[in-house]
Amino acid sequence: MDYLKIYPTQTLNGAIEISGAKNASLPLIAMTILAKEAVTIGNLPDVVDIKTLLKLLSKLGASCKFSKKSVHVDTSTINETKATYDIVKTMRASILVLGPILARFGHCEVSLPGGCAIGQRPIDLHLKALEQMGAEIDIKAGYIQATTPNGLHGCEIIFDKITVTGTANIVMAASLAKGVTTITNAAREPEVVQLCEILAQSGVIINGIGTAMLEIHGTDGKLLNIKDFDVIPDRIEAGTYLCAGAITKSEITLTNVEPKHLGAVLSKLEEMGHTFTLSKNTICIHPAKEMKAIKIITQEYPAFPTDMQAQFLALATQAEGVSIIEEKLFENRFMHVSELQRMGADITLNGHTATVSGRTQLSGTDVMATDLRASSALVLAGLVATGETDIHRIYHLDRGYEALESKLQNIGAKIERLKE
Ligand code: EPZ
Repeated sequence: MDYLKIYPTQTLNGAIEISGAKNASLPLIAMTILAKEAVTIGNLPDVVDIKTLLKLLSKLGASCKFSKKSVHVDTSTINETKATYDIVKTMRASILVLGPILARFGHCEVSLPGGCAIGQRPIDLHLKALEQMGAEIDIKAGYIQATTPNGLHGCEIIFDKITVTGTANIVMAASLAKGVTTITNAAREPEVVQLCEILAQSGVIINGIGTAMLEIHGTDGKLLNIKDFDVIPDRIEAGTYLCAGAITKSEITLTNVEPKHLGAVLSKLEEMGHTFTLSKNTICIHPAKEMKAIKIITQEYPAFPTDMQAQFLALATQAEGVSIIEEKLFENRFMHVSELQRMGADITLNGHTATVSGRTQLSGTDVMATDLRASSALVLAGLVATGETDIHRIYHLDRGYEALESKLQNIGAKIERLKE
């Protein structure tokens, strides 16, 4: 297994090109199941989760030709509708094939994804909505067995909680259903917006894109003419590198980024004292000389994203004063806290709220990554810790960050990937 060794970094300097969004790529790849012809998806991030979903599609019989940053997917050869445990257990977002497969083939078996480090991650809302649309669903021997005896039909769906992949699953299922489906309390993340936009460009009438109320007019089984497209930039990768600039007091520039997807993140960084120069697809951070403490509550888009919580918690250890970080979406998304405490951070946890007293000088040591975003928080801490920081189990990091160490090396960070 690999691990990352990070040496104390002076300031960073230069530009980082942001990759395509992992959390946009996954539903968009699943969406190709609805396509009549092959589709080429560009600006794909070269990360493990994308490879896992493409492997799943290949196992179902699709042809996936991956070349640098793009994939050519032909799902006309799919001859299997069972997503098996061996793949689904490695990536819960495999559940995104359920809606499209059911809509196209009328039957689907998907292994229950199981929990994950940050929480139980139920999919009850996905299943309840599909049943409302006419699916018959059984859970047997750890598998979701779904059939649609009379096809999927439109209906009025109200999500009890805002669910990103739940919204994506139902939007895709509704795209091929008979009649109109409305989704109330839909997710508005940019990744869901892009999925809706591509579907709309492929012949599906969708009203309310970008709002919490979506209305999807299904094609009644007619497959879609999906044209080649590029995935939007990864706003969480971008936010993570902005935190790298902030925590090391470095002026760095992000390219191939969408500033309008980072409103809440930029606003919190400004509250901490950082300023920015923005253009259409670049962000330059001008770091604060002395960071101020911050109060953060994670919520659904466009509010502050839970996927940036760990990174800001690391950042808060370097801010003057007491920061309060409340995690509202997931029940166990503070596993980075104990690792940061081992580096000397002064953090107290009370239920879903972390109180961080700064500024503390962190010291390098061996730490363990526990989930994707916690791993990036440990990288940020390692950049400013005295001594060496060795981050183990970085297979978590490789799921969602493309070439992280080389992107950081290119702007002056002393970081290397070694073998255990
Ligand atoms: C997506 O996960 C992202 N993953 C997550 O990013 C992100 O943290 C999360 O949305 C929230 O923004 C992908 O897009 C692949 P949810 P998802 O369904 O869709 C509850 C990362 O680091 N819920 O929006 O699985 C759930 O327990 C990953 O890139 C139900 O109760 O999250 C949670 O409390 C981590 N029942 C809340 O809703 C359901 O059926 C939000 O979950 C579904 C969800």
